[in-house]
Amino acid sequence: MKRPQAQVAVLQAADAQKDRRIDDVAAEADLKPEAATRAAFELEADGLVSVSEETLEHYELTDEGDRYVRESLPEQDLYEAAIDAGAADGPVQMGQVIGASGLEGGAVDIALSNYARKAYGSIDSGEITANQDADPGSDPEMLALEAVADRRVEDADTDALDQLERRGHLDVREETVRSVQLTDDGVTALMEGVEAAETVDQLTPEMLTSGEWEDVAFTEYNVEADAEDVSHGKEHILRQTANRVKDTLVGMGFSEMEGPHADAQFWINDCLFMPQDHPARTHWDQFALEEPEEIGHLPPDLVERVRSAHKEGVGPDSEGYHSPWTEDIARGMDLRGHTTSLSMRYLSGHQVGELDPPERYFSVEKVYRNDTLDPTHLLEFFQIEGWVMAEDLSVRDLMGTFTEFYEQFGITDLEFKPHYNPYTEPSFELFGTHPETGEVVEVGNSGIFRDEVLTPLGVDCDVMAWGLSLERLLMLMYGFEDIRDVHGTLCDLELLRETEVIR
Ligand code: PHE
Repeated sequence: MKRPQAQVAVLQAADAQKDRRIDDVAAEADLKPEAATRAAFELEADGLVSVSEETLEHYELTDEGDRYVRESLPEQDLYEAAIDAGAADGPVQMGQVIGASGLEGGAVDIALSNYARKAYGSIDSGEITANQDADPGSDPEMLALEAVADRRVEDADTDALDQLERRGHLDVREETVRSVQLTDDGVTALMEGVEAAETVDQLTPEMLTSGEWEDVAFTEYNVEADAEDVSHGKEHILRQTANRVKDTLVGMGFSEMEGPHADAQFWINDCLFMPQDHPARTHWDQFALEEPEEIGHLPPDLVERVRSAHKEGVGPDSEGYHSPWTEDIARGMDLRGHTTSLSMRYLSGHQVGELDPPERYFSVEKVYRNDTLDPTHLLEFFQIEGWVMAEDLSVRDLMGTFTEFYEQFGITDLEFKPHYNPYTEPSFELFGTHPETGEVVEVGNSGIFRDEVLTPLGVDCDVMAWGLSLERLLMLMYGFEDIRDVHGTLCDLELLRETEVIR
């Protein structure tokens, strides 16, 4: 017969005549006690051994018990003092006896509550008597304490042990001891011969067809083993955060804008009252497209109004740039350096038709800039664009909107700094504090669009707008110090796998 290794060892160590403790069997067979116990139960299920169980009680003195066994029990002290005070001849004042006994605190209570129980004497209305015939020298509880201390509990009186446990002088610890004994079938099996079976951890089709499965032992499942880490595909944290930003803005009443990544300079720059010779419009800052060289269609009336705003301004208080402006440049194609191009398209009424204030729009989209790569700059990043069109907007509305928005992401220490944009007046840059470095980081740019922007677009109420960096938001939320950890070829895969975006 073939049996798993541990079962064979237990079977061979077991005796038909007497119980053997499984712990001893385990030690002899060089098995862990749990493995030997498990094997014993498996053998018992097959009728080859019987397993018996016994509960052993272990007595241990508590600190108090230990002190009393070395000195004496409080009631013994009290008896001695009572005899000395003459209480054997008649009642004596209790206070006097206690004072002479040297007992203090809790020991007094212990002494009083056991004195009469043990018939050492009586205690009544503040007076104490001592029983001449009492024999504290052979107090069974003291004898039991001594027996426990000397590790010969079997000599102790069981009632006394119970009493001592109740008094808190002893602790009892229970231990379950299991033993095995060979059954007749076990003896027969041993005589016929048992061999250790090969242990396998996988059942194969071959083993099933050959019948070999009957002779092998299968390894146990170890449900506590560490499982291998499986990394699976998951949404990038930037994308997850973008989605959360979108949900947040939708919750604040905004609708989403969409539009081209490559667009005419007209929508990216000219509508924003950026002079055609503005440094930010050069190829130092923006990526130009060779193909297509220019945009197919621009609304002619809008082109005309934008040109006139650039050249002459939009009213008595407005000056244009008086510098050259050509439609050729406006038609040139660039990768958008900001998503404000989308805002221009929507505000112009050419994307979703005429707008009726109040209106709110946003986008969370990629923008492209010819920057130098560093820990806080990438050549492409996500911008959280947004605007609100309404009558009589003020800087307070702008700040309030940001405060409400960033609060949703746990950022409550926003700072605002006056700034300059050709297209907004006033303008503000937004800052937050980096949770790891404590540095103040720029997170966005904002303002209220100038008339030179709004009049050509045909908008005659206020529009406040902003462009915020999604990556910087992420840095403030999760403490990243280098944006390249999350983006691009140098990204930190572990970090991307482990970071969970809280929704
Ligand atoms: N376009 C600006 C930027 O990229 C952000 C902005 C948008 C500022 C709208 C004001 C108004 O920094």
